[in-house]
Amino acid sequence: MCGIVGYTGFEAAAPRLLDGLEKLAYRGYDSAGIALHERGGLVTARAVGKLGELIGLTRGGSIYRGTCGIGHTRWATHGAPAARNAHPHLSQDGGVAVVHNGIIENYRILKAELEAEGAVFSSETDSEVIPFLIAKYLKQTGEPEEAIRRATARLVGAYALGILFSEYPGRIYAVRYQSPLVAAHCEGCSLIASDVPALLEYTRQVIYPAEGEVVCLTPDAMTVTNADGKAVRHLPHTVEWDSAAARKDGYSSFMEKEIREVPRAMEQTIRSLTDGEGRCTDLGGGIDPARLRETEELCFLGCGSAYHVGVAAQYCAEKLLGIPVRTEPASEFRYRRVPLAKNCLAVAVSQSGETADTLAAVRESRRRGIYVLGVVNVVGSAIARETDAVLYTRAGPEIAVATTKAYCAQLCAVYLLIAAILRAKGNEEEARRLERAVAALPECAAAVVGRAEKIMTLASSLSGARDAFFIGRGADYAACMEGSLKLKEITYSHAEAYAAGELKHGTISLIEEGVPVVAVLTQPHILAKTLSGAEEVRARGARVIAIAGEGVALPEDFADRDVISVPVPDPDVSPAVSTVAMQLLALGVCRARALDPDQPRNLAKSVTVE
Ligand code: M6R
Repeated sequence: MCGIVGYTGFEAAAPRLLDGLEKLAYRGYDSAGIALHERGGLVTARAVGKLGELIGLTRGGSIYRGTCGIGHTRWATHGAPAARNAHPHLSQDGGVAVVHNGIIENYRILKAELEAEGAVFSSETDSEVIPFLIAKYLKQTGEPEEAIRRATARLVGAYALGILFSEYPGRIYAVRYQSPLVAAHCEGCSLIASDVPALLEYTRQVIYPAEGEVVCLTPDAMTVTNADGKAVRHLPHTVEWDSAAARKDGYSSFMEKEIREVPRAMEQTIRSLTDGEGRCTDLGGGIDPARLRETEELCFLGCGSAYHVGVAAQYCAEKLLGIPVRTEPASEFRYRRVPLAKNCLAVAVSQSGETADTLAAVRESRRRGIYVLGVVNVVGSAIARETDAVLYTRAGPEIAVATTKAYCAQLCAVYLLIAAILRAKGNEEEARRLERAVAALPECAAAVVGRAEKIMTLASSLSGARDAFFIGRGADYAACMEGSLKLKEITYSHAEAYAAGELKHGTISLIEEGVPVVAVLTQPHILAKTLSGAEEVRARGARVIAIAGEGVALPEDFADRDVISVPVPDPDVSPAVSTVAMQLLALGVCRARALDPDQPRNLAKSVTVE
């Protein structure tokens, strides 16, 4: 989704804004722009395409002297990717510049109203009405904060805004509703951004403004006022990540770096949720065991890979806990009336903590009186703030759009949650067994990462394939869902995950000579069944690639080159290991096709709008 940055200080702002935008490029974008206080007014520069275009246009920012500005990477929603639609947008009189992340749902009504008053718009965006509205209310009130409050009161939808007024040089204003925004003041400058990686070069002390609060930043101070205009004090959060975590460090892509960081992400997550003996009784203080004891139903909520985490957890939880467990895509849940028990524990899984649908599902659950636990990677994010309790994954910043290490860390967290519920309900033995299995995951994942080159070489032989199928049963099917998503996201191949037993109910008609079928085989009790599914597709010409638990006996005529062995500490937690092999498979195909894995087309890291 769009990225926002802002800098006001004593140094030239433009190069700093461009640098900040680079740090947010992972969010996905198709055009970019900056606006600065310059020569007594506001100037803008906007360009379509990669940031290099904007950097070229502004010669790296060197043509500007201004020390205060805002910047934006745009992910087109309303209006094509074009310079006229890129942000910042100016008010008609040029006195107000705005960058916006989010969607204004009632923009047509506002546009018509403003046009009736003589406004002439120059873009097709929903965002352009915002500077026009602010300028209108500035004329009426003569007071920037009040103008922002009145303008935002008219907006329906989601927004994080960075705002400059030509009459107030050196000042940036910012406000948010449902879209992410962080702000910071440090020695000699103040900053805003959509996400912390853009601020880490400056500071690790940040604030997360609440919805509707107006932040005013100058080089010397940062003040926050609430909807009534009263001053609000925020204690800064300390970000644990350092700026090195957001660099590629010599790897060809962030995705490769992040897959290699899977074992560490798992280890750090497990350590923070367990005590010195590996017990997760209160999950590092994240939740009261009494609350866990009462749980009579579990409902996992999430989108994309986070939803797949829920599916994997569901297989494990329903087997070990013997209570009803469901997993719902948050985007569906929010508009359904899913019946939930009074003592249901809803678990909202989200790397970014900002996914609009997951946040809405959290709000809907809480409105219905359901206790909601967040499993979140970004400290202080909206889902972390709005859930009843939070289990933080400690994956560090994840920059590549396709999630890898965060997904694996989330699996560790949800398995430990299941162990904590087992213990709270008096099943110490099973809790310990599960905790030991989780403790072994980082080493198993490291063994798979150690085979990265072999897996990617195998993958390169699949690079010509247009379609691929992923089959498995039980937890292996959950892993397949994630494996096929990885392949789709970064290689643009058509890939489908199938519960192996479902194949012959239709999909097998798509199997033809040479089509790759990845069979995940880590569940001893249903291995023979999945294997017979694999045999059926092989008989129809498919090339079967087996991701098999170590020690699994495969038919003798399976080609060795097409077998990836993975160490599995326990079948209940195997997706955390088998998926790493599929992440590497997808990366290998992507590399062989010379595609960029970090910023796949049409995709955004953080989906902060519906
Ligand atoms: O930040 P979240 O975990 O809430 O994001 C949810 C999905 O948008 C995300 O997992 C998406 O599916 C990724 N691109 C998967 O690689």
